[in-house]
Amino acid sequence: MKPTIFSGVQPSGIPTIGNYIGAMKGFVDLQDDYETTYCIVNQHAITVYQDPKTLSQTTRLLAALYIAMGLDPQKSTIFIQSDVPAHAQAAWIVLCQTGVGELERMTQYKDKAQKQEVVSAGLLAYPALMVADIILYDAQYIPVGEDQKQHLELTRNFVDRFNNRYGNGKDLLVKPEPMIPKSGGRILSLQDPTSKMSKSDANTKAFISMLDEPKTIIKKIKSAVTDSVGEVNYDKENQPAISNLLDIYSALSNRSIDDLVNEYHSLGYGKFKSDVADQVVATFEPIQQKYHQLVNSQELTDILVEGAKTANETATRTLSRMEKAIGLTYKPSLY
Ligand code: TYM
Repeated sequence: MKPTIFSGVQPSGIPTIGNYIGAMKGFVDLQDDYETTYCIVNQHAITVYQDPKTLSQTTRLLAALYIAMGLDPQKSTIFIQSDVPAHAQAAWIVLCQTGVGELERMTQYKDKAQKQEVVSAGLLAYPALMVADIILYDAQYIPVGEDQKQHLELTRNFVDRFNNRYGNGKDLLVKPEPMIPKSGGRILSLQDPTSKMSKSDANTKAFISMLDEPKTIIKKIKSAVTDSVGEVNYDKENQPAISNLLDIYSALSNRSIDDLVNEYHSLGYGKFKSDVADQVVATFEPIQQKYHQLVNSQELTDILVEGAKTANETATRTLSRMEKAIGLTYKPSLY
């Protein structure tokens, strides 16, 4: 048996190159050596208001991008979260075993809550749904960006608590570990290198989406903020913007940071930015072409139907195990 992987992305907009470098690129690389399950977490997205039509479009868009960037439905299970009811059911069990204080301590919750006029209970409960996503697939490793580390810690604590309370000495649930890339786990805004690149940033110059056209990509990188040092160094403290461009370039070209610093150190920011932009375009142009072929295809629908079937089987099995452990009645069909 191969070790198990689970991860997901919210369809709350078009994914950015930050999502790609921090997590999605890794999804593809892991397919051969692991049992991989990848979800489009649309129930997470509704913790803040989403226009219904747009949400259903971005859900399909994200599914098409998963395949276009190289996920292979023969190797990975790919599905939409709301097609598998066990996620919401398991999340309820998780919530009933999680302290409000634990949830209130989540930094992502605090950040996101600040931006809302009315904070939904779902926004607070959101990490419990993420715990449910992970445990239902007995996932051992979770490829994510740095911003999800605290949610993974919450998941690990929950698993310990559940196993201790209900396991009778056995591990009923698997304790997962985050897999965070060494560089690129936190890609920064192109306009403000003190904050993370985010698909919901009001300033569209701050991020590059995976579907931005080449000329937009070039423009955004050209107008990215830099500094007055004038030399390309990897120094996150003193040159965060240049270091961020190096992280992007390195992740997409598979060249080491040292190699890039050696080449660009004294060539000036103009040449450096222009080559970073060329690399970003070269990475995403083929993905975009494939995306356009797929997004409205029957093939994509078939992949999602098949993925939901496989995911439902696994998730329902784990949910039954949890329900049985905590004393919820057996399902008649399982007697
Ligand atoms: P989401 O949709 O915000 O982001 C998807 C993935 O992209 C990573 N990421 C980044 N990585 C590097 N630099 C950035 N600027 C950047 N922005 C985002 C995120 O860390 C994430 O890995 N709660 C999750 C989705 C989720 C999930 C799960 C993930 C739901 N259930 C179960 C793993 C396992 C989220 O909101 O990701």
